[in-house]
Amino acid sequence: MSEADLLIFETARLVLRRQTQDDVDFLTELWSNPDVTRYMGGPREKDWLRTVFAETAAAPFAEAYDLWVLVEKESGQSVGHCGLLDKDIEGHAEIELSYVLAPEAQGKGYAAEIAAGLKKYAFEELGLRRLVALIEPENAASERVALKAGLHFDRQIIRPGGALRKLYLIEAAGGEAGGMEKQNE
Ligand SMILES: CC(C)(COP(=O)(O)OP(=O)(O)OC[C@H]1O[C@@H](n2cnc3c(N)ncnc32)[C@H](O)[C@@H]1OP(=O)(O)O)[C@@H](O)C(=O)NCCC(=O)NCCS
Repeated sequence: MSEADLLIFETARLVLRRQTQDDVDFLTELWSNPDVTRYMGGPREKDWLRTVFAETAAAPFAEAYDLWVLVEKESGQSVGHCGLLDKDIEGHAEIELSYVLAPEAQGKGYAAEIAAGLKKYAFEELGLRRLVALIEPENAASERVALKAGLHFDRQIIRPGGALRKLYLIEAAGGEAGGMEKQNE
């Protein structure tokens, strides 16, 4: 499959694309790194990560919403895992803006750049009306990225596992308040 087939979108310095088997090592290192995952529930187990990422790479079009691989145009290196995830938040179906950068790629404005790109993609290409971000209260960098993308703090929530998170959100121009009610509730 060519790069063009896997492309989600690109920005000035970055490409966001679907996963391949060549990404499994990079993504496994990223999600097993204690510093990277500090505010996201901690490092995941490597064998489990390899299995999950290999499955995703085998069917890169299976999920409508997913985390995709962030590539630095200048170097061609993979530098992050970013995208849109469907989440149940207090009984409402929401789409979460999510960004994870490798340590060496942080501090260059990449998260802000891809968050802006994801917001545009979600509202203009996918026709979504609303995005949220769930942020660990001490994750100042992530909060700053959400604010720069135009999201605002809404409230603190407790996730099903008991974790406290700050809920940030943004609605598309003309958007209606509230997430979509789940059909079966
Ligand atoms: C959060 C994260 C994605 C930010 O990535 P980044 O590419 O370094 O962010 P940017 O360079 O785009 O910086 C965005 C803003 O955050 C600010 N910022 C960066 N690190 C910060 C920190 N530790 N404390 C406060 N602000 C910080 C930057 O100064 C910038 O604001 P400015 O333009 O007003 O100066 C990155 O730190 C990361 O991947 N962390 C681990 C994974 C994670 O926690 N993801 C979020 C899950 S909700």
